[in-house]
Amino acid sequence: MAKPTGNPARRRLVSGNWKMHHDHLQSIRTVQDLGLRLSAADVASIDVSVHPTFTSLRSVQTVIEDRVIPVALGAQHCSHEDQGAFTGEVAPPMLARLGVSFVIVGHSERRQFFGQTDEVVAATLRAVIRHGMTPIVCVGETEEEREDGETEARLTSQTTAALKGLPAEQVAGLVIAYEPIWAIGTGRTATAEDAESACAHIRGVVGEVAGAEAGQAVRIQYGGSVRPENAAELLGQPDVDGALVGGASLDAATFAAIVQAAGAGVPPGR
Ligand code: 13P
Repeated sequence: MAKPTGNPARRRLVSGNWKMHHDHLQSIRTVQDLGLRLSAADVASIDVSVHPTFTSLRSVQTVIEDRVIPVALGAQHCSHEDQGAFTGEVAPPMLARLGVSFVIVGHSERRQFFGQTDEVVAATLRAVIRHGMTPIVCVGETEEEREDGETEARLTSQTTAALKGLPAEQVAGLVIAYEPIWAIGTGRTATAEDAESACAHIRGVVGEVAGAEAGQAVRIQYGGSVRPENAAELLGQPDVDGALVGGASLDAATFAAIVQAAGAGVPPGR
């Protein structure tokens, strides 16, 4: 049994990143199913968010509101601009108007396939905060970087580039997701020790960039092949405050099992 530790002030956050899966009808069914599976007790001491595609956001928002499903609405990406001639992009205020609470920023797939740079990530997370939403800022090393012993250097540079200059109270309120790229969609999960070591390192970097208090307050998720079987152990690590789940979040039963494992590990009174 994993030991539940960590800072009680950091409420766990379990997020489902649906990536480019589920059209709006499948999204409606999935969130309805999730609503039937999650009890109030399951989410009493943790936060949960789902991140459908842009075309499903409105539908999922309506279902969540109508059925009072205890999950927050999230997006997977947005522009760093508020409006303008940016064909194909979606602006942060548009997401805010839809009731979006969390926006994933700088996912490795955006960085890798769409050329998102550290500068754009920094600008985007500021735009998300400006519109009253919470960014989930993703950082993580490649397999090569890990083999070369470059993991910590990579996490330091990505975290610093994203947060430098941001007021400490804003840093304290955001979420960072540690997603080792080699663990995403591969079925290979970081060991609990490696996840803890990377998340603790990120927390230290946040402390250096924005002050120790912000470092202690910021929530850090682990992402990369999280499943019901490994969620409790990963989330039992003191510096792991939640999970960013890809493939296993597409099925309501599987995602609910991860949420339940996360909630069950929270010590009483937390
Ligand atoms: P998987 O859980 O499918 O490995 O995806 C992780 C991820 O990228 C979540 O953002």
